[in-house]
Amino acid sequence: MPRNIIDVTDLTVEEIDQLIATAEDIIADPVKYQNACAHKQLATLFFEPSTRTRLSFESAMLALGGSVLGFSEANSSSTAKGETVGDTIHTVSCYADIIAMRHPKEGAPYAAAQFSEVPIINAGDGGHNHPTQTLTDLLTIHREKGRLDNFTVGFCGDLKFGRTVHSLVNALSRYANINYVLISPNELKLPRYVKEEALKKKGIPYTQTTDLESVIPQLDILYMTRVQKERFFNEEDYLRLKDSYILTPEKLVNAKADLSILHPLPRVNEISVAVDRDPRAAYWRQVKNGKFIRMALIMKLLGIEV
Ligand code: CP
Repeated sequence: MPRNIIDVTDLTVEEIDQLIATAEDIIADPVKYQNACAHKQLATLFFEPSTRTRLSFESAMLALGGSVLGFSEANSSSTAKGETVGDTIHTVSCYADIIAMRHPKEGAPYAAAQFSEVPIINAGDGGHNHPTQTLTDLLTIHREKGRLDNFTVGFCGDLKFGRTVHSLVNALSRYANINYVLISPNELKLPRYVKEEALKKKGIPYTQTTDLESVIPQLDILYMTRVQKERFFNEEDYLRLKDSYILTPEKLVNAKADLSILHPLPRVNEISVAVDRDPRAAYWRQVKNGKFIRMALIMKLLGIEV
């Protein structure tokens, strides 16, 4: 059976530490890896829009000397003719050595993996999980802070539908001494199942609030997220909640000098462009890190060592 990455906990903490070490080595010496995946093919099957995840996967494979194929919207595949996701994946696994797949339905990559002869990577499934964004986030935190333990992290925005939040809360719950501050409107709180599994069962402390400014001074990391229009059933609710939080330079006046501001992107209004000039804004560095950690993951799943 091929090794799939559907959830970030499909990787052990030791494996994640190793991926981070490999990504650091790639950043230090990319030439060493330029032929690592020669003659290997990555398929990117995106049934839902993407900029960073799809293009960073493709850029990662090209930087490893491999090649890429795939589609960026379901309508350009035979899904539009009624083909099942299972048959699509079975077909593509006859052509490619590894598949990165995004789908709007929660659990679709897990179901698809049952039909694949090659490793499947979940590139985001609905409002559920986004494990490779989490690997990107962990590499970024490690690079910004020099560690993955002993800090207070604030998650702000749409914690209900935010798959990057669910995955990162889950991943960080395996590291020591992390305090969680969950900042959201009441309608967009972190789902109970995530709190139960990742936090409560492990006795990990967390606080919930609707007020970003009152908690900013205590944070070492602030993970901002977008209120996701595509997950709402009702436009009225989206319009009411979409600008719940807008991070501006003024709101950062009382923040720690070494705060790291992360955001999986895309952003809409939730971080003002003026914050980009603040050295604490780590989200554009985070974008770059996404390519390197995906290079490390592709090599790992293909069993390639350099
Ligand atoms: N972070 C992220 O998943 O971005 P995209 O939707 O652009 O891939």
